[in-house]
Amino acid sequence: MLSKKVQAALNEQIRIEAESSQVYLAMASWAEIQPGIDNVTAFFYKHSEEERQHMLKLIHFVNERGGFATIPPLPQPQLTFPSIKHAFEELLKHEVFVSESINKCVDIALSEKDYATHNFLQWYVAEQIEEEALARIMNDKLELIGDDKSGMYLFDRDILTISLNVENSK
Ligand code: FEO
Repeated sequence: MLSKKVQAALNEQIRIEAESSQVYLAMASWAEIQPGIDNVTAFFYKHSEEERQHMLKLIHFVNERGGFATIPPLPQPQLTFPSIKHAFEELLKHEVFVSESINKCVDIALSEKDYATHNFLQWYVAEQIEEEALARIMNDKLELIGDDKSGMYLFDRDILTISLNVENSK
């Protein structure tokens, strides 16, 4: 059975994962109408879908442990971006924020002596390490590319392979 404090923390995390999914969905839709970045678009759609899976995993966990997962309202995310680089900077900032939030959940689980939740959350801790690393790699590459169009062509060509390599290196 979840304590009230743990349930509240996990419900907040459900909200954050849902919001993450929306934020990346907005990036995907924006990217889709920019010329020539089909794989960047696919990356954002995939990332949005992954965040939805993170949310669902939490919902099932809360409900299976005798709690009640509440489905949150969501604000409209940022819809347009000055550049692809800006979108990826936002993505990194957002992932850092998510990691901090996961850490808070871990702290609360420990303070409540809820070792099952603590154990469950380790998957998210590992996932955040990967997602932050991936976001940093993308930002570093975009920094190098600057305004170089051929660099952007290669970035779009390689982005899905890069993200797959980071996932597989876990
Ligand atoms: Fe589920 Fe990228 O945070």
